[in-house]
Amino acid sequence: PSSAYYDFVIVGGGTSGLVVANRLSELNNITVAVIEAGESTLNNFNVSNVMGYSTAFGTQIDWAYQTVNQTYAGGLKQTVRAGKALGGTSTINGMSYTRAEDVQIDNWEAVGNKGWNWKNLFEYYKKSEGFQVPTEDQIADGANYNASYHGMNGPLKVGWPTSMTNSSFFPVLRQTFEKLGVQYNSDANGGKMVGFTVHPDTIDREMNVREDAARAYYWPYEARSNLKIISNTRANKIIWANATQGEAVAVGVEATNAYGTQSIYANKEIILSAGALRSPALLELSGVGNPVILGEYGIPVKVNITTVGENLQDQTNNGLSWEGIDTLTGLATFSILPSVNQLYGNNVTALESYVKSNLITYAKTVSTASNGAVKESDLLEAFNLQYDLIFKSQVPYAEVVFSPGDQSFAVEYWPLLPFSRGSIHIQSANPSVLPAINPNYFMFDQDVEAQVTVAQYIRKALGTAPLNSLVRNEVFPGLDVLPANASSSTWDSWIKANYRTNYHPVGTNSMLPREKGGVVSPELKVYGTKNLRIVDASILPFQLCGHLTSTLYAVAERASDLIKESHLI
Ligand code: FDA
Repeated sequence: PSSAYYDFVIVGGGTSGLVVANRLSELNNITVAVIEAGESTLNNFNVSNVMGYSTAFGTQIDWAYQTVNQTYAGGLKQTVRAGKALGGTSTINGMSYTRAEDVQIDNWEAVGNKGWNWKNLFEYYKKSEGFQVPTEDQIADGANYNASYHGMNGPLKVGWPTSMTNSSFFPVLRQTFEKLGVQYNSDANGGKMVGFTVHPDTIDREMNVREDAARAYYWPYEARSNLKIISNTRANKIIWANATQGEAVAVGVEATNAYGTQSIYANKEIILSAGALRSPALLELSGVGNPVILGEYGIPVKVNITTVGENLQDQTNNGLSWEGIDTLTGLATFSILPSVNQLYGNNVTALESYVKSNLITYAKTVSTASNGAVKESDLLEAFNLQYDLIFKSQVPYAEVVFSPGDQSFAVEYWPLLPFSRGSIHIQSANPSVLPAINPNYFMFDQDVEAQVTVAQYIRKALGTAPLNSLVRNEVFPGLDVLPANASSSTWDSWIKANYRTNYHPVGTNSMLPREKGGVVSPELKVYGTKNLRIVDASILPFQLCGHLTSTLYAVAERASDLIKESHLI
């Protein structure tokens, strides 16, 4: 067994971890190590190919986590993809770059996280971004932007693909949705997302490759001698100082690779960036969590925080497809983000009072499912905020994505703010055993109902001119399987038999005041510890309407400044 010493040790060289590694190692008197279970994908075509979405699934760079059987969703397991590579999940994701609704980020501050609001985070979205202004051809195909929303000098290249979906597709969608009352949004990245939009991607347009976190934040800086990447190495747990009083002091990380197990020491801090599905497990393996769960595996309690691994929030995705008349090529980045009023029209009042009257039941059910680890009153506050976002602020209620192809026309969708809540916990004290993931998909009927409404809305849109001129019959599921007047139980079983996760898990180490069930403080420090932080999707207290990476890059940029400030460096 060997050991090594650094100022900062980061666990997980993924989307968020590499941002922090980059910003801390800007200071050449500071040493930084990154422990990453995966390896470089710089020469992996499944990663770089901008048309290669899904080709990396099931390969060695995909953790392919399995959930536990999903009780409310037909009983089967789901595969939750996540990147096992330098660059993390940004190496296998869909590359969509959409941020969040401003009021959603403002809610972080409203619940007690001072300084976390849209105005502050907006500067960090821009700091991370290297926006590539669209070409004339791209503008003709629908690319558009408001320059004041974008950063031009950040490390992360953001723009439209070289080959966008061509010709008349953009005006056809625009006209169709305007008829349905959804207006064109020329740039959804300024904090107002509702509408029809042609969003940018994380792409390096000149090179025509995916822009993942490693390409943006690591490879251009790999020559820094104070930045060490320890790849193909799994972190097992935190090593603590021997103190028995006061805050717990993290001194290092125990890690295992092909050569054995070693200790990697940190003089200043340890930062967990292993993602929403792993950082809580690392806390539990290190004795931070719910004493009941730690006790089951004989792990001594270092810090008692019952909510570690709770508050898991994900979305569910379904798709329909039609026979297409034309062949449309190129990478499509067309999204409809309708509000609840736009989706439900006159029926919205009934829905609003139904949801309102159920919030207490939702809070009770989730609290009970957590065996009381999450308090009902904290959940009720969160559900009330979510209700207000949907019905008062009118944030997007769903995202609908169009992917026209070779005489086929696929449409995917996901309701953005489900009420279901789950958890993730270790199921062994052995760090090589993966945690038990239970998102509780479709825990509440309302989350199924949202799926049905969006699917019916898509059918309506595909039957509306001029979009209806691009398609023939519905191929999947087809009207024979799911007739226009299908009963709600037919819809229910179709949705549960065909859904997949939308791969947006958040919340499992929520940033909230400790008395409200938080795991990390507004400085992203784990409560009860002196020098252990978390920077990844697990700290987002609530689900977002945007895809996650843009916000994670911004959060990690801000976190890096907070870390530097606290050490006066
Ligand atoms: P991330 O997963 O990036 O990093 C965690 C890292 O920790 C990984 O590299 C992992 O190997 C490592 N690790 C874990 N355990 C470890 C251990 N014990 N020891 C050492 N290392 C360990 N978002 C978006 O903005 N646009 C999109 O189009 C999509 N599409 C999409 C598709 C698919 C298929 C997925 C799976 C996800 C998306 N997303 C997305 C979501 C987005 O990509 C995701 O939320 C972020 O990349 C997560 O970033 P994190 O930093 O939280 O974890």
